[in-house]
Amino acid sequence: FQPKPLAGRRVLLTAGPTFEAIDPVRGITNLSSGRMGYALARACREAGAEVTLVSGPVHLQRPHRVVRIETSSALEMREEVMRHAAHCDVFIGVAAVADYRPETMSMQKIKKKGSPPAIKLVENPDILAEVAALAKPPFCVGFAAESEQLGENAEAKRQRKGIPLIVGNLVQESLGSDQATLTLFDDEGRHPLPVAPKIELARQIVARIANLLEPR
Ligand code: C5P
Repeated sequence: FQPKPLAGRRVLLTAGPTFEAIDPVRGITNLSSGRMGYALARACREAGAEVTLVSGPVHLQRPHRVVRIETSSALEMREEVMRHAAHCDVFIGVAAVADYRPETMSMQKIKKKGSPPAIKLVENPDILAEVAALAKPPFCVGFAAESEQLGENAEAKRQRKGIPLIVGNLVQESLGSDQATLTLFDDEGRHPLPVAPKIELARQIVARIANLLEPR
Protein backbone atom coordinates (compact mmCIF):
# COMPACT_ATOMS: atom_id res chain seq x y z
CA PHE A 1 0.00 0.00 0.00
CA GLN A 2 1.47 3.32 -1.17
CA PRO A 3 0.07 6.26 0.80
CA LYS A 4 -0.79 9.17 -1.48
CA PRO A 5 2.02 11.71 -1.00
CA LEU A 6 -0.26 14.79 -0.96
CA ALA A 7 -3.18 13.28 0.96
CA GLY A 8 -4.77 15.88 3.23
CA ARG A 9 -2.93 18.76 1.52
CA ARG A 10 -4.59 21.65 -0.28
CA VAL A 11 -3.01 22.80 -3.50
CA LEU A 12 -3.79 26.03 -5.34
CA LEU A 13 -2.55 26.53 -8.91
CA THR A 14 -2.68 29.13 -11.66
CA ALA A 15 -2.58 28.06 -15.31
CA GLY A 16 -2.92 29.42 -18.82
CA PRO A 17 -2.42 32.96 -20.08
CA THR A 18 -4.08 36.15 -18.91
CA PHE A 19 -5.96 38.49 -21.24
CA GLU A 20 -5.65 42.24 -20.73
CA ALA A 21 -8.38 44.08 -22.60
CA ILE A 22 -7.58 47.10 -24.76
CA ASP A 23 -11.15 47.57 -26.01
CA PRO A 24 -14.17 45.22 -26.32
CA VAL A 25 -12.55 43.22 -29.13
CA ARG A 26 -8.81 43.48 -28.53
CA GLY A 27 -6.29 42.68 -25.87
CA ILE A 28 -2.79 41.71 -24.85
CA THR A 29 -2.07 38.10 -24.01
CA ASN A 30 0.69 35.50 -23.79
CA LEU A 31 1.01 32.27 -25.76
CA SER A 32 0.13 29.56 -23.28
CA SER A 33 -2.04 26.49 -23.85
CA GLY A 34 -2.46 25.84 -20.12
CA ARG A 35 -1.49 22.20 -20.61
CA MET A 36 1.38 22.13 -18.10
CA GLY A 37 -0.75 23.75 -15.37
CA TYR A 38 -3.68 21.45 -16.05
CA ALA A 39 -1.38 18.41 -16.03
CA LEU A 40 -0.04 19.52 -12.65
CA ALA A 41 -3.55 20.01 -11.27
CA ARG A 42 -4.36 16.47 -12.35
CA ALA A 43 -1.11 15.06 -10.90
CA CYS A 44 -1.77 16.80 -7.55
CA ARG A 45 -5.27 15.33 -7.49
CA GLU A 46 -3.88 11.85 -8.26
CA ALA A 47 -1.47 12.34 -5.35
CA GLY A 48 -4.43 12.83 -3.02
CA ALA A 49 -4.54 16.63 -2.72
CA GLU A 50 -7.62 18.84 -2.71
CA VAL A 51 -7.00 20.99 -5.78
CA THR A 52 -8.18 24.47 -6.78
CA LEU A 53 -7.16 25.66 -10.23
CA VAL A 54 -7.38 29.37 -11.04
CA SER A 55 -7.35 29.33 -14.82
CA GLY A 56 -6.89 31.97 -17.46
CA PRO A 57 -8.70 31.59 -20.81
CA VAL A 58 -7.81 28.17 -22.29
CA HIS A 59 -9.47 25.47 -24.38
CA LEU A 60 -9.07 22.60 -21.94
CA GLN A 61 -11.48 20.48 -19.95
CA ARG A 62 -11.56 20.77 -16.19
CA PRO A 63 -9.53 17.88 -14.77
CA HIS A 64 -11.60 15.33 -12.89
CA ARG A 65 -12.36 16.29 -9.25
CA VAL A 66 -10.51 19.60 -9.47
CA VAL A 67 -12.26 22.87 -8.55
CA ARG A 68 -11.72 25.33 -11.39
CA ILE A 69 -12.15 29.09 -11.12
CA GLU A 70 -12.19 30.81 -14.50
CA THR A 71 -10.53 34.23 -14.79
CA SER A 72 -9.37 36.46 -17.59
CA SER A 73 -7.12 39.34 -16.53
CA ALA A 74 -4.15 39.28 -14.14
CA LEU A 75 -6.12 41.41 -11.66
CA GLU A 76 -8.98 38.88 -11.62
CA MET A 77 -6.51 36.01 -11.30
CA ARG A 78 -4.77 37.73 -8.41
CA GLU A 79 -8.07 38.37 -6.62
CA GLU A 80 -9.07 34.69 -6.81
CA VAL A 81 -5.60 33.52 -5.77
CA MET A 82 -5.50 35.87 -2.78
CA ARG A 83 -8.96 34.70 -1.71
CA HIS A 84 -7.66 31.11 -1.45
CA ALA A 85 -3.93 31.46 -0.72
CA ALA A 86 -4.21 31.63 3.06
CA HIS A 87 -5.96 28.25 3.14
CA CYS A 88 -3.57 26.22 0.99
CA ASP A 89 -0.45 24.21 1.77
CA VAL A 90 1.09 24.49 -1.69
CA PHE A 91 0.83 27.20 -4.33
CA ILE A 92 2.03 26.48 -7.87
CA GLY A 93 2.13 29.47 -10.23
CA VAL A 94 2.14 28.07 -13.74
CA ALA A 95 0.18 30.85 -15.44
CA ALA A 96 1.85 33.00 -18.07
CA VAL A 97 0.66 36.26 -16.52
CA ALA A 98 0.96 39.31 -18.78
CA ASP A 99 3.61 41.62 -17.35
CA TYR A 100 1.67 44.74 -18.37
CA ARG A 101 -1.96 45.78 -18.91
CA PRO A 102 -3.48 48.82 -20.60
CA GLU A 103 -4.03 51.48 -17.93
CA THR A 104 -7.64 51.87 -19.06
CA MET A 105 -9.91 49.80 -21.29
CA SER A 106 -11.74 51.71 -24.02
CA MET A 107 -15.48 51.00 -23.76
CA GLN A 108 -15.84 51.48 -27.53
CA LYS A 109 -13.93 49.68 -30.24
CA ILE A 110 -10.96 51.88 -31.12
CA LYS A 111 -11.44 53.17 -34.68
CA LYS A 112 -8.65 53.11 -37.23
CA LYS A 113 -7.85 56.71 -38.08
CA GLY A 114 -4.83 58.88 -38.82
CA SER A 115 -1.97 57.97 -36.54
CA PRO A 116 -1.73 54.74 -34.55
CA PRO A 117 -3.15 55.02 -31.01
CA ALA A 118 -0.80 55.17 -28.04
CA ILE A 119 -1.75 52.59 -25.42
CA LYS A 120 -0.38 53.36 -21.98
CA LEU A 121 0.69 50.22 -20.15
CA VAL A 122 1.01 49.73 -16.42
CA GLU A 123 2.68 46.85 -14.60
CA ASN A 124 0.63 43.89 -13.38
CA PRO A 125 1.09 42.53 -9.86
CA ASP A 126 3.44 39.55 -9.49
CA ILE A 127 0.96 37.03 -8.09
CA LEU A 128 3.56 34.43 -7.13
CA ALA A 129 5.79 36.97 -5.35
CA GLU A 130 2.74 38.26 -3.43
CA VAL A 131 1.80 34.79 -2.25
CA ALA A 132 5.43 34.06 -1.29
CA ALA A 133 5.48 37.29 0.77
CA LEU A 134 2.45 36.34 2.91
CA ALA A 135 3.11 36.15 6.65
CA LYS A 136 2.55 32.38 6.58
CA PRO A 137 3.18 31.48 2.94
CA PRO A 138 2.27 28.11 1.47
CA PHE A 139 5.09 26.10 -0.12
CA CYS A 140 5.51 28.13 -3.32
CA VAL A 141 6.51 26.74 -6.70
CA GLY A 142 7.21 28.90 -9.74
CA PHE A 143 7.84 28.34 -13.42
CA ALA A 144 10.51 30.11 -15.41
CA ALA A 145 9.95 30.01 -19.15
CA GLU A 146 13.30 30.91 -20.67
CA SER A 147 14.61 31.04 -24.20
CA GLU A 148 18.28 30.97 -23.15
CA GLN A 149 20.57 30.57 -20.11
CA LEU A 150 17.96 28.42 -18.40
CA GLY A 151 20.09 27.76 -15.33
CA GLU A 152 21.18 31.28 -14.46
CA ASN A 153 17.82 32.91 -15.20
CA ALA A 154 15.70 30.36 -13.39
CA GLU A 155 17.87 30.28 -10.26
CA ALA A 156 18.01 34.10 -10.16
CA LYS A 157 14.20 34.17 -10.37
CA ARG A 158 13.91 31.68 -7.53
CA GLN A 159 16.07 33.87 -5.31
CA ARG A 160 14.32 37.10 -6.34
CA LYS A 161 10.84 35.75 -5.64
CA GLY A 162 11.97 34.03 -2.44
CA ILE A 163 10.52 30.62 -3.30
CA PRO A 164 11.86 27.14 -2.48
CA LEU A 165 11.30 25.52 -5.90
CA ILE A 166 11.27 26.76 -9.47
CA VAL A 167 10.76 24.76 -12.64
CA GLY A 168 12.87 25.96 -15.55
CA ASN A 169 11.27 25.46 -18.93
CA LEU A 170 13.04 25.87 -22.27
CA VAL A 171 10.26 27.52 -24.26
CA GLN A 172 11.34 26.60 -27.78
CA GLU A 173 11.01 22.96 -26.85
CA SER A 174 7.83 23.18 -24.79
CA LEU A 175 5.41 25.79 -26.14
CA GLY A 176 2.17 24.24 -27.37
CA SER A 177 3.79 20.82 -27.40
CA ASP A 178 2.75 17.88 -25.30
CA GLN A 179 6.37 17.34 -24.28
CA ALA A 180 8.67 19.63 -22.35
CA THR A 181 12.31 20.08 -21.33
CA LEU A 182 12.30 20.91 -17.63
CA THR A 183 14.89 21.37 -14.91
CA LEU A 184 14.02 21.72 -11.22
CA PHE A 185 15.95 24.22 -9.07
CA ASP A 186 15.77 24.08 -5.28
CA ASP A 187 18.04 24.50 -2.25
CA GLU A 188 19.82 21.27 -3.14
CA GLY A 189 20.72 22.33 -6.67
CA ARG A 190 19.50 21.53 -10.15
CA HIS A 191 17.72 18.40 -11.28
CA PRO A 192 17.15 18.04 -15.05
CA LEU A 193 14.16 15.85 -15.91
CA PRO A 194 14.22 13.58 -18.95
CA VAL A 195 12.12 14.89 -21.87
CA ALA A 196 8.66 13.41 -21.41
CA PRO A 197 4.95 14.09 -21.88
CA LYS A 198 3.66 16.87 -19.63
CA ILE A 199 1.62 14.55 -17.40
CA GLU A 200 4.74 12.45 -16.65
CA LEU A 201 6.72 15.59 -15.87
CA ALA A 202 3.88 16.85 -13.68
CA ARG A 203 4.00 13.63 -11.64
CA GLN A 204 7.74 14.06 -11.12
CA ILE A 205 7.31 17.67 -10.01
CA VAL A 206 4.62 16.56 -7.56
CA ALA A 207 6.95 13.88 -6.18
CA ARG A 208 9.64 16.52 -5.61
CA ILE A 209 7.16 18.89 -3.90
CA ALA A 210 5.99 16.08 -1.63
CA ASN A 211 9.64 15.36 -0.69
CA LEU A 212 10.39 18.99 0.11
CA LEU A 213 7.19 19.70 2.09
CA GLU A 214 7.60 19.92 5.84
CA PRO A 215 6.26 16.76 7.42
CA ARG A 216 3.16 17.34 9.55
O1 C5P B 1 8.52 36.85 -13.31
P1 C5P B 1 8.44 35.78 -14.33
O2 C5P B 1 7.23 35.93 -15.23
O3 C5P B 1 9.63 35.57 -15.11
O4 C5P B 1 8.25 34.45 -13.44
C1 C5P B 1 7.43 33.42 -13.80
C2 C5P B 1 6.73 32.83 -12.58
O5 C5P B 1 6.06 33.85 -11.84
C3 C5P B 1 5.64 31.87 -12.97
O6 C5P B 1 5.52 30.92 -11.93
C4 C5P B 1 4.42 32.76 -13.07
O7 C5P B 1 3.21 32.03 -12.91
C5 C5P B 1 4.64 33.73 -11.94
N1 C5P B 1 4.12 35.09 -12.19
C6 C5P B 1 3.03 35.56 -11.48
N2 C5P B 1 2.57 36.84 -11.70
C7 C5P B 1 3.18 37.64 -12.62
C8 C5P B 1 4.27 37.17 -13.35
C9 C5P B 1 4.71 35.88 -13.11
O8 C5P B 1 2.47 34.84 -10.65
N3 C5P B 1 2.72 38.87 -12.80
